[in-house]
Amino acid sequence: MLEVFYGMEFIILVALVFVWGLTGLMANNIKYAAFRNGNVNLWSRMTRIGLWVGLILFFLWFAMMILILLFLGWFFVMDRVVVILPLMALPALFVIRSSMPKLKKADSAIPDGLISILAPIHTMSIGTILAFYLVTINVPAIPDVKESTTYLGILILCAGLLWLYQKRRVERIRFRQPGFAARIRRGAGFAAVFMIAALSGYTWSLQASKFPESMEMVNHDLIDDGGGTGFVNVSMHHGSDHSQATNGNKMVSVVDLTGPKTGEPDKRFTLYAEKKMLKLSSGRTIEAWTFNGQSPGPQLVVNKGDLVEVTLVNKDIDQGVTLHWHGVDVPNAEDGVAGMTQDAVMPGESYTYRFVANETGSHWYHSHQVSSIQVQKGLFGAFIILPENQKRNEGPLDITTLAHDWETPEGTVTTLDFSDTLQAKAVKPGTEVRLRLVNGSSETKIFTLNGTSYKVAAIDGNDIHEPGTLTGSLLKIGGGGRYDVTFTMPEKPVTLALYHENTESGIVFSKDGQGKAEALEEGTVFDPTSYGTPASSPYGSSTAFDREFTMILDQLYVGNYNGKTNQLWAINGEVFPHTPTFMVQEGDIVKTTIVNKSFADHPIHLHGHHIHVLSKNGKPISGSPLVLDTLLVEPGDMYEVAFTANNPGLWMDHCHNLEHAAQGMTMHLAYQNITTPFTIGDRTGNHPE
Ligand code: C2O
Ligand code: CU
Repeated sequence: MLEVFYGMEFIILVALVFVWGLTGLMANNIKYAAFRNGNVNLWSRMTRIGLWVGLILFFLWFAMMILILLFLGWFFVMDRVVVILPLMALPALFVIRSSMPKLKKADSAIPDGLISILAPIHTMSIGTILAFYLVTINVPAIPDVKESTTYLGILILCAGLLWLYQKRRVERIRFRQPGFAARIRRGAGFAAVFMIAALSGYTWSLQASKFPESMEMVNHDLIDDGGGTGFVNVSMHHGSDHSQATNGNKMVSVVDLTGPKTGEPDKRFTLYAEKKMLKLSSGRTIEAWTFNGQSPGPQLVVNKGDLVEVTLVNKDIDQGVTLHWHGVDVPNAEDGVAGMTQDAVMPGESYTYRFVANETGSHWYHSHQVSSIQVQKGLFGAFIILPENQKRNEGPLDITTLAHDWETPEGTVTTLDFSDTLQAKAVKPGTEVRLRLVNGSSETKIFTLNGTSYKVAAIDGNDIHEPGTLTGSLLKIGGGGRYDVTFTMPEKPVTLALYHENTESGIVFSKDGQGKAEALEEGTVFDPTSYGTPASSPYGSSTAFDREFTMILDQLYVGNYNGKTNQLWAINGEVFPHTPTFMVQEGDIVKTTIVNKSFADHPIHLHGHHIHVLSKNGKPISGSPLVLDTLLVEPGDMYEVAFTANNPGLWMDHCHNLEHAAQGMTMHLAYQNITTPFTIGDRTGNHPE
């Protein structure tokens, strides 16, 4: 729906810019015709047609806004209403009140009334150009009065200048008619000035977008306190020059927020990052970046309560690597974000992570240095936390599978694990199976399971309360998300497949391992917000939130990011490093409203915390409590989520379509008293996204 509405709006806006520009040109011709005894009637009639078409288009645009308001809600039109509407509505009024009546009697109005015909039309042209710019390039996602008055000011200034200019022109023309060539020259001059201004603006903004040699990852210039109170004025302090805040809240460095430094680990692993040529099951070779020579990397299985120690050794990944424990709420220093919680681990270096696994569930690990490239190239693996004292496969047959997209010279190849063909597995009928589905790709994947009924037992590692029985559902998992699916192996084969993907990859479970793939009995799209049954949750309708944030996800049709021009992905109208920082204090109960105004899926991932979904599109969730770390927000969707600020640190909050994160859609949740000695930029070589 959103695509249709915004798509229509885009077309209307393009038409508006075009129509008003043309109308302005025709109105200009009245001026010349009037003094040359030319055909005033012709030009005024043309202008009148232009006015009508332009006004009708404007009202169409306005009707679109009302439809969007009715169908999607205020969040999807507030920038339009507050900032963009006045830029077109005011000149439109001006046109109706001044140009239209004067045009009716064009002959008698000339020359004195000419200005009152021209000026409103020119103002309207500028208003539509500004509107187009604001919808496509510089989205005022969370509008404020300052922003709307700024743009109104620009409009009035431009209109005033044009008015003065036209007034002078009319006076001049009265005495001396410019020839055709002179008019062409003048037009070309105007175009040249405009082009030069636009080009220098572009070049300047391209330069300005370059990241400095070194900068803190957290944006201290745009702090959002979520309307909460209690902050001492520490937000502006860069670095650790203030060791003590005024309220006695001690400043703490991320380097001190480690897991246990001593103690014999219960589980110990070493992961070697190295490049390796790998062969897919189809025979195709991939230049992969691997952990221990494989991708996905080794599956790390631990128990709840274990002290886990993982040593990362970088053999030959030039840009350096890190390990991020996606979905696991580790202490901040163990979070593996290059340039914020540590420096990237360079070739020949190693780094040890130590933390206690305080939860259970299906998670994964991946590099968080140049993650948009490194994860894509294979630096990731599954991280499974079993309940205390439970051995693997002591309970149900436990199978993990990771979906991924590989870039090859022949295009994208989608795999499950490292297989791009159908895998076969023998499973004895009657066996309880727990299938852990991990989406290690940036794109949303839709899994299907055919030949059996099943349950979604957990999402993002968190159990669903009393999950219902499903058949044929389409399980949509956003990039970085995980679903645990359980079923009892029947006599007939069961097929796990990826829906509507150009790939053979899938798994056939059968009693002898010889079963053939089952055809899909297609059901409906699985909706986690109404699945399972309610159970007690820490947040309810009576929860008093200490802070409330809004995250508006947008696309900028074109923009500059770190010295490159691209389509960009914005949060609250800004791209990293200009996105706001959500600032909290330990203990805060926080609500966030997340709105997707763009045409793409955004799996929003908050590090270090579990978020509880409260509502989707205004409807409170009706099933099991839904606790996630990666929330798939589809176009036109709006979620309210809650979390408790119980893990002090500096935490990334970003889209797990990692290309989006690397093109702007990255921000941070910061605890007000935490500082970091690490920086990103070319000087340190840290580039987390
Ligand atoms: Cu799985 Cu910041 O990422
Ligand atoms: Cu995204």
